[in-house]
Amino acid sequence: MSDETKDHALNDLGRSEGNAQGPAHSSLDVDFVRSQFPALKDANEITPAFFENAGGSLPCRQVIERLSAFYHECKVQPGMTYPRARDAQARMDEAPRRLSALLRVNPETHVLVIGPSTTQNAYVLACAFARVLEPGSEIIVTDQDHEANSGFWRRLASNGVVVREWRMDPQSGLLNPADLEELLSGKTRFVAFPHCSNIIGHFNDVTDIIRRIHAAGALAIVDGVSAAPHGLPDLSAIDADVYFFSTYKTYGPHQGVMAIRRHLIERLPNEGQWFNEHVPQKRLVPAGPDHAQVAALAGIVDYIEALAAHHGIDFHADPAAANARVRDLMRRQEHHLLEGLMDFLKVAAREGRVRILGPDRADSRRAPTIALDTNRPPAEIAADLAELGIEAGAGDFYAVRTLSRLGVNPQRGVLRLSFLHYTTETEIDRLIAALDTVL
Ligand SMILES: Cc1ncc(COP(=O)(O)O)c(C=O)c1O
Repeated sequence: MSDETKDHALNDLGRSEGNAQGPAHSSLDVDFVRSQFPALKDANEITPAFFENAGGSLPCRQVIERLSAFYHECKVQPGMTYPRARDAQARMDEAPRRLSALLRVNPETHVLVIGPSTTQNAYVLACAFARVLEPGSEIIVTDQDHEANSGFWRRLASNGVVVREWRMDPQSGLLNPADLEELLSGKTRFVAFPHCSNIIGHFNDVTDIIRRIHAAGALAIVDGVSAAPHGLPDLSAIDADVYFFSTYKTYGPHQGVMAIRRHLIERLPNEGQWFNEHVPQKRLVPAGPDHAQVAALAGIVDYIEALAAHHGIDFHADPAAANARVRDLMRRQEHHLLEGLMDFLKVAAREGRVRILGPDRADSRRAPTIALDTNRPPAEIAADLAELGIEAGAGDFYAVRTLSRLGVNPQRGVLRLSFLHYTTETEIDRLIAALDTVL
């Protein structure tokens, strides 16, 4: 692909999720980015190079500062009348308000729900569906999902719900939307699918898939956990009925965000305390909020704002438009690094040293999350990499069904290499050299 065609493809991807307005700053200032992450401050090569970002990103300075400030200054029961409690409440209210603006959550159509994790949010949502889905109704799940967006839906079968599976191609690992069309019917109530799988690392064409689901009169439940770290989404453009992501993977504290269509949350039974029935944000969160972490979520917005300001992007006029431009910068940086790594891995695959799961093209739909089926046990390879200063993960990553479909023994698992916009070219070079030694 020529550079020009690649740029075009990247722009197209941006457009499908809300376009970046105006000319984008040509490239991300990675030194500036790294200065925002205390764990990355030391540019010394002795520092381990972190390649398990899909498991959880490093936290940005703004989040750490807000978390620490909450504990230092106002760690009391929020919402009481005394000043410290009012301060705590104000900090907690700020986070969903600013996140909603950043993600372009339209308050008329959607509610931003904050819960303990994506798995917990999905579990409670499934409990609510279990009380209303009639026997004989149908749902569709995939074998490309992390178990969080799969297992709880499949359990609805015990209520008489018919569970259909949209299966990946066992070679490419890709989901074909034409196969989904075969499964959709007038009885389909919802389809749960990933924006990006944590194993296959391919950004599914989320807007096209949702259009097909809505055309069939069904709801779209999207797991955005593996997509969001590569640029926070424009949720109005995506228009899912439910969109999940986990903020400990988007440089923040360990929380789960669920943007859910307002008329859906109002129609589903209340799973929260009875007296919170009329508070949409609490209907699907029976757990009490972790006050400090909720407040610290605003630090993610601060971080995007700092990136925007540093790159000459006006944040205040339209935070979501600024976010789209920051996302574009992040993806370009990741894409640039992915090309070099993929070139190396393709040669290693030809030599029979690894099998790359998911697409081996570094195109604009390829996320920098690469799972490898290896000749030696992946856990051994990860340990060897650690000796060489490379932090990488091994295991099934809760994508047991995905690995099985691809013919990989989940107990043996895969080696997973994942990086983000803060990764440097030097780190990629170190990774390649280390892989060359251990594979
Ligand atoms: C793609 C994907 N979906 C869902 C989850 C579950 O998220 P949480 O840990 O917030 O429950 C994960 C966690 O790794 C994930 O990678």
